[in-house]
Amino acid sequence: MDHSLSNQLPVLDIDIQEFVAHYWQKKPCLLRNALSGFDSAVSPEELAGLACEEDVHCRLVLEGSEEKPWTVRYGPFEEQDFLDLPVSNYSLLVSECEKWIPELNDLLDQFRFIPDWRIDDLMISYAPEGGSVGPHVDQYDVFLLQALGTRRWQYCETISQDEAIIPDLELAILQDFHPDQNVILNPGDILYLPPGFAHHGVALDRCMTYSIGFRAPTVTSVLESFTLESEQAGDNVERYRDTDLELERHHAEITDTEIARFRDMVSRFLEQSPGLWCDAIGKMLSDSAVATPEDVDSQPVHLSDLQSSNWIRHPESRILYHCSAQTIEVYYNGHVHRLPQQPEILEKLQTLCENYEWSAELIRESLKIESLGNLLIELATNQAILPIED
Ligand code: SIN
Ligand code: CO
Repeated sequence: MDHSLSNQLPVLDIDIQEFVAHYWQKKPCLLRNALSGFDSAVSPEELAGLACEEDVHCRLVLEGSEEKPWTVRYGPFEEQDFLDLPVSNYSLLVSECEKWIPELNDLLDQFRFIPDWRIDDLMISYAPEGGSVGPHVDQYDVFLLQALGTRRWQYCETISQDEAIIPDLELAILQDFHPDQNVILNPGDILYLPPGFAHHGVALDRCMTYSIGFRAPTVTSVLESFTLESEQAGDNVERYRDTDLELERHHAEITDTEIARFRDMVSRFLEQSPGLWCDAIGKMLSDSAVATPEDVDSQPVHLSDLQSSNWIRHPESRILYHCSAQTIEVYYNGHVHRLPQQPEILEKLQTLCENYEWSAELIRESLKIESLGNLLIELATNQAILPIED
């Protein structure tokens, strides 16, 4: 596929200050002509082609075609699956499209006023007339960019409270949906929805929607990462103690005093050093599907290898950083690499983070700083960056 997206991509035309102050994580917002003149880099046929490839996460949602009101089928699909589809009332949804069509990262770049780690993926959907995935609630923020044709969006301006879903379906579709907004989106229009607002988008004609979705880790996933980090740091993990053992109790009872001791123990555990927190969060947020170093069956990369080609970020790689007083922690795919805290190092690191492709020149420039050279070698050895074959 040849996608010259960067040549034609309009600039996101919204008042970012106002958007963040009044809408982000607060309430839905219709952004008319936010990407005026936007033209989808991917055609419906190309999307269907992608949905036939192994490892691509995709699904088909059909309304009322079988005995259930809604059915879902998961890909990868075959050409025949598409030939067998009805003419209307279905949707094809392909997740993580930016991993397969790297040019789509140019579009994600337009949303960089939100931190990199918050971006989850770019999902693209195609639907003929009548196609939708039903009224539902998502637990994440999403920008719904109209990419082709028109779609009617109905949504609620107030947050949903545990609304009933239709039983016995693989999809969580609302039993009752009472929208108070009804809008038609044209290419370049964006509907922003925070988590928890019920919505329903129905294609009015051949329609494509790009969903730029965000992630928000749960407290349990943070605790999991923190616990793992503490264990790996090898600190002596405190155990339950009861020097003031109470004798006035039944021996089978668990007392409130004991529960309070456990809670205090966990509170003390969470008060560990900021460095431990930083690594726990950095590793969690940069975690990705890229194989861990132990699983990577590759030869160590040398400076000469780095210099001899252009490099590209592994499509699944996440590279983030944090600034401490003395060091810069670079987190990539669940690992950490520490660099000295120096302005010229930080500046080069930021340039690397801003670019999807790392030209031989950018690499050469970075290699002038020895510690950055070590980082690049580690990234390449662990396949966080890949050489571009000519
Ligand atoms: C769609 O693209 O059809 C659905 C997106 C959504 O409602 O989240
Ligand atoms: Co949704």
